[in-house]
Amino acid sequence: MISFRGFGKTYGKQQAVRNLDLNVRAGEVVALLGPNGSGKTTSLKAAAGLVKPTTGVVLVGNPGQPSSEPDARRCLSFLPQRVAFQDSLSGQEVLNFHRQIRGVDAAHAAAALGVASLNGAVARAVSTYSGGMLQRLGLAVALLPDAPVFLLDEPTAALDPDGLEAFYKVIAKSRADGRAVLFTSHQMGDAERLADRFAILVDGVLVADIAGREMKDRLAERGNMRLRVPSLDASTLAGLRVMAPDAVFTDGELVVRGPAGMRPRVIELILARGHQIVDLVAEDGRLDDLYREMVGPQREPR
Ligand SMILES: Nc1ncnc2c1ncn2[C@@H]1O[C@H](COP(=O)(O)OP(=O)(O)OP(=O)(O)O)[C@@H](O)[C@H]1O
Ligand SMILES: [Mg+2]
Repeated sequence: MISFRGFGKTYGKQQAVRNLDLNVRAGEVVALLGPNGSGKTTSLKAAAGLVKPTTGVVLVGNPGQPSSEPDARRCLSFLPQRVAFQDSLSGQEVLNFHRQIRGVDAAHAAAALGVASLNGAVARAVSTYSGGMLQRLGLAVALLPDAPVFLLDEPTAALDPDGLEAFYKVIAKSRADGRAVLFTSHQMGDAERLADRFAILVDGVLVADIAGREMKDRLAERGNMRLRVPSLDASTLAGLRVMAPDAVFTDGELVVRGPAGMRPRVIELILARGHQIVDLVAEDGRLDDLYREMVGPQREPR
C-alpha cells in the first residue's frame, strides 16, 4: 500500500533522507520515529506526493503508483504537521468543504468530527481557534476521506486525553478496515499503543524497522524487578548475579534487570536462602529507553 524504494531527498546540500526502503501493508499501522530533523515529515510528504524524490520512488495504493500520480493521491489522506485553513471559515464550513471535495457521506464525517470534539466551537471562525483546536480540526479533516492510506504527521501532538481515546479507536478501526497507516510521533506511549511496527530514522537513515512483537520481546528483556528485602547476605547477592549480572542491592531495595522469565527463579533463590520479601514491583522496559539507545547520544537538529 505504501512502499518507499530507495527514497532519498536532498534540499540544496542538505540530505534530509537517504535510500529509504520501507513498506506499510494493508491493515498495518506503522510509527515513524526519530529526533527532530531526522526526515520524518520529508518522507511523509513524499508519500503524499508533495515532495519530489531526489532518488528512488514512493509507491502508494494497490497496485502501487508513484505518489505524484493523481490515482495515488486519490487513495490517500494526509495530515500535515502544521495545518492551515482559511481564517474566515468556521470549523463546520471547513469540514463541509473537505467532505464535499472527497465525496464523503455525512455519517462518516460525524465520526471524524468525534475525534475533533471541538466542544461547540465548530460554528466559530477558524481564526478564533487555539493551536490545539486547529490541530484537532486538521485531524478531523484528515480522517474524513474513506481512503485506504492514511499519512499522519504528529496526529496526537495536540490531543487531550478524550481526543486521544477517540483517535485510538479510529486507528483500531482503520486497521480492522484494512487501511495502511503511517504516522509520526514524539510520544513513545502513543507509538507503543498504536503501532504494529516501528521505523526509526536518524539523520535521514532508517536505523530500525521492528515489528511490534519483536519490540515487546526486546522491552521484556530489559524489564526491571524491584524487591524490598530487609536484608541480603553477600553470598545470595553473588548467587543472584550469576543470573542477573547487574543486580544491585541498596538500602533494602534489590533491583534485578532482565527478562520476565527469570523473575520466579530470583524470588525462589531469595526465599530459599531464608530472606524475606516484603514488597515487589515488576515493570517491562520502556520504549523511550530503547529508542534512546537506538538513536544514540542527543544532538542538535541539523
Ligand atoms: N523545504 C526545505 N528546505 C530545506 N531543508 C529542509 C526543507 N524541509 C526539510 N528540510 C530539512 O530536512 C531535514 C529533515 O526535516 P524533516 O522536516 O523531514 O524532519 P522531521 O523528522 O519531520 O523533524 P521534526 O521531528 O522536527 O518534525 C531537516 O534538516 C530540515 O532542516
Ligand atoms: Mg516533522
